Amino acid sequence: MSSTLITGITELITNDPDTEVPPDPALIVTDGRVSWIGSADRAPAADTALPAEGTVLPAFVDSHSHLVFDGDRSAEFTARMIGARYDGGGIATTVEATRAATDERLRALVEARVAEMRRQGTGVVEIKSGYGLNTPDELRSLRIAAEFTSEVTFLGAHVVPVEYRSDRAGYVDFVIGEMLQRAAEYARWIDVFCEPNSPHAFTGEESREILLAGRAAGLELRVHGNQLGHGPGAQLAVELDAASVDHCTYLSDADIDALAGSATVATVLPGVEFSTHSPYPDARKLIDSGVTVAIASDCNPGTCYSTSIPFMISLAVREMGMTPTEAVWAATRGSALSLRRDDLGVIKVGSPAELTVLDAPNHLHLAYRPGVPLARRLL
Ligand code: NIG
Ligand code: FE
Repeated sequence: MSSTLITGITELITNDPDTEVPPDPALIVTDGRVSWIGSADRAPAADTALPAEGTVLPAFVDSHSHLVFDGDRSAEFTARMIGARYDGGGIATTVEATRAATDERLRALVEARVAEMRRQGTGVVEIKSGYGLNTPDELRSLRIAAEFTSEVTFLGAHVVPVEYRSDRAGYVDFVIGEMLQRAAEYARWIDVFCEPNSPHAFTGEESREILLAGRAAGLELRVHGNQLGHGPGAQLAVELDAASVDHCTYLSDADIDALAGSATVATVLPGVEFSTHSPYPDARKLIDSGVTVAIASDCNPGTCYSTSIPFMISLAVREMGMTPTEAVWAATRGSALSLRRDDLGVIKVGSPAELTVLDAPNHLHLAYRPGVPLARRLL
């Protein structure tokens, strides 16, 4: 057994209403779990001491990423900055590059991206497949993702690949047939790019069929919805009790009402609006309507090649009407809830020691000092 006493905490964010935080808080971590929280002057002895010298909070949970890819789409980003529109068509470029990569190269790319996340304060990350779009390449994407996280998502229904362009129904059958049966061995989740506003993605009816097949194969549900325009994604996610509907760039009042009365989290991805020059959704309205909101990176080569949750928090505060406190909660507890992980995004006795420290006196600085590398993992 080994224990570490963490002191020098200028502010402790626990996200746990039942944990009382004293004025000079300290905590002890024993064998990877928080074992004590209290006042520093009453701390029991521990094997080692670790002065945090800053704000301690639960590690960010990045509940939405597409880290398994090769290739470069910086030119596509550049074109968008001077007016080109995003419609999902660029995904085919990444599929081609990803299929051509060796296993070793793909693994090294994912490893580097996860390390980049962790250097910026992220703990658990969800990783999707979706750039293989055939059985061997989807399966190896899932296998590699599973080396880095237990939150693995099968996204065979990312877009209809080029070779199926004249046979959409054939591709849906293929995804929910052979591919799904084998994917279920590696994945916890199934996701679909539900977006009738893109010729490459899936309609509401196709998405329903895919999600129901995923559930029948034992997977839990997530949805990419309402990214490029109004559409069926959010309400489908609620109807099927998906854990999360992600993007939510275009939501109607009826979508918000449906989300508010549900257990489906609305995950906003502010880096996507930034990188696609899209309007930011009104997270203020979502929160005021009673919707549970999460923030994630969506790190991917097309719509947001950033691993930085602090950057997402800055954008959510500046552009979506969230307070810094709400944004930090959404990137920790909200994101944990979107993965139905009650153990994450919280600091309390018994919780895993997924801790992040900010080189700042309080959490407001995350939004107040955009682009400054304040956050790092504590342990
Ligand atoms: O979440 N919208 C669908 N999928 C990704 C983008 C994928 C890409 O363009 O490579 C997203 O935005
Ligand atoms: Fe995504």
